[in-house]
Amino acid sequence: MKKQSLQSIAKVMMQDGKGILAADASATTMNKRLAAVGVEQDEEWRRKYRQLLFTTPGFSEGISGVILYDGTIRQSADDGTPFAKLLEQHGVVPGIKVDKGKVDLPNFPGEQVTEGLDGLKERLEEYYEMGARFAKWRAVIPIGEGLPNEAAIEANAHALARYAGICQEVGIVPMVEPEVLIDGDHTIGRCDAVMRATLGTVFYELERYRIDLTGTILKTSMVLSGKERGMDAPEAVADHTVGVLRDMVPQELAGVVFLSGGQFPEQASANLNAIMRRGPHPWLMTFSYSRALQEPVLSAWEGVDANIEEAQRVFKHRIDMNVAARAAQYDSSMENME
Ligand code: 13P
Repeated sequence: MKKQSLQSIAKVMMQDGKGILAADASATTMNKRLAAVGVEQDEEWRRKYRQLLFTTPGFSEGISGVILYDGTIRQSADDGTPFAKLLEQHGVVPGIKVDKGKVDLPNFPGEQVTEGLDGLKERLEEYYEMGARFAKWRAVIPIGEGLPNEAAIEANAHALARYAGICQEVGIVPMVEPEVLIDGDHTIGRCDAVMRATLGTVFYELERYRIDLTGTILKTSMVLSGKERGMDAPEAVADHTVGVLRDMVPQELAGVVFLSGGQFPEQASANLNAIMRRGPHPWLMTFSYSRALQEPVLSAWEGVDANIEEAQRVFKHRIDMNVAARAAQYDSSMENME
């Protein structure tokens, strides 16, 4: 079997008019989200929920790729079609979260490093066989008093570069995610500085480990004030985010996608819209949200079969809003025009 090039996979993922769904919450995280809306927490309920998402009418009109979790890529729809196959049949690229989560970094209270490099090549080969064509690794960078430290940023950037190299060796597009966290009361200017330091170190390591940036996607936070400070004007988010990305992100990258990171769904759409209005940008850019696409869906569903249709309608609406934002055509008045 001749492998598809990294660039051609990334091109499908970054195609115009679409974005990426992050459906890679771990079993533990997914259980918490199910519990919050009163749904039972086991493998079958997690499967039913993911099936609701992937069978939403019109889903593939606005979604070009889906990030799955290990448990989810091994599951199937009611008719026995594996989820990865179901996505593929609709032209949606299956992806997989491959990091094994974060652990405390000794001597750096409040800072963590993401693990999962040991045995990664073998895991990626298995995921490739199952249909995965891209893989995500999430590192977290906190902002706080004296945080982040350079050592923690470096440890995470090093792991991101090692993982990206193994992905490319196997024929899988790395989706490199250094998430600068929204928690805290920091100013947007402080987030701007931390994002610069983080992205600078990440691209230094990616280049040092000879990663092919034309076959790499960056998944990044937007530049925002800490959550405790309240919401920024979308214009301010766009000013800082576009400024930081232009200064720190090499142009040859296959794409830049945004995580929602705890923003409200409408806020994530308005901010993406403001960023896209500053275009044309040197890279293809789109959304790769989890919570901002799914929170209203979970609330509408509540585990009740009779609610599936409404939950899917809510989901399609959020997809449509973000597709509009990607095209710089979102307006908050569109939220009520149904
Ligand atoms: P959020 O959009 O909820 O931040 O999730 C995106 C993601 O993939 C986090 O790793």
